[in-house]
Amino acid sequence: MKYIRARAPGKCILFGEHSVVYGYPAIAMGITLGSVCEIEALNNNKITIFLESYNKNLVFSNIDDLIVHFPPEFKQFSYCLKRFKENYTIDFNNIRITLSSTPLLSSSGLGSSASSAVALVSAINSFYNIQLNRRQISHFALDMEKLVHGTPSGIDNTVCTYGSIIFYEQGEFRFIETPNNLNLLVTYTNIKHDTGKAIEKFREFTKQNPDYSDQLLSEMGMIAREAEHELINLNIEKIGVLMNKNQKLLEIFGISNENISEIIDIALNNGAFGSKITGAGLGGSVISVGSPSKLEHVAKSLENEGYYSFHTGINRQGVRVESN
Ligand code: PMV
Repeated sequence: MKYIRARAPGKCILFGEHSVVYGYPAIAMGITLGSVCEIEALNNNKITIFLESYNKNLVFSNIDDLIVHFPPEFKQFSYCLKRFKENYTIDFNNIRITLSSTPLLSSSGLGSSASSAVALVSAINSFYNIQLNRRQISHFALDMEKLVHGTPSGIDNTVCTYGSIIFYEQGEFRFIETPNNLNLLVTYTNIKHDTGKAIEKFREFTKQNPDYSDQLLSEMGMIAREAEHELINLNIEKIGVLMNKNQKLLEIFGISNENISEIIDIALNNGAFGSKITGAGLGGSVISVGSPSKLEHVAKSLENEGYYSFHTGINRQGVRVESN
């Protein structure tokens, strides 16, 4: 039986979350954890979608039934299938799709929604031999992301498609080549975040303080530009200093909280060079950089305070597809 598996990396935003929504540059990295989408042919005259991360098994008699009855909280997935149906006359009959982004933890700022969108589009693309290229896959995933939170900058879908470290500005991007891997410690704040809410809170601050916000946003942009050079030389100490600066600016917009501050304090007090929110904030995850032995020590200290961390590095391949 025909079978396809697509894997797309998750991501960490290293610099410039939020300011990227306002057109300033940002830097993101594809990480080793990610999402997987499997499609297998079956002979049961049904369409089965198993959303593993939500433990939801959905069975439909045909694509029209799916379009009408798909749970609205996952509308980005039914939109995806509907668009393939309309543009490429695919009926999706006799297949089972399994989508999982479990290792990324949902609403944790690690790109679970962009990564699963990219994996799903890529898997369908290969299974039905549609031949969308990476750019088209990334744009397709961006349209799905728009249904999840209204005004995505496009950085998440781009890095989850291409992997590596990217410098992203207003829809355009370039790769940043580092001489070695960049080791990150990712710590979960124990708080699920809501990207839309965090974007709204950030926007509220910009409305209340327009001139001050312009100045802060442009500082964030300059930090991202400076960080590109430090990443090219993989100067971890300077990268850490810039992360701390970026964090201080994000805090002014009110998207930090107690858990985030506690994690950052523990990281810096235990020898990390830098530590900051990654993604929308108000929860989600925090990233830290430092020497491998210090990061090990930071992780242990955080664990003692009830925070789960994991080490990750660069996924250089981006989305890839395997078949049987
Ligand atoms: O998807 P999250 O929660 O990791 O955050 C996305 C980053 C933002 O800059 C806040 C939004 C965006 O679309 O770039």
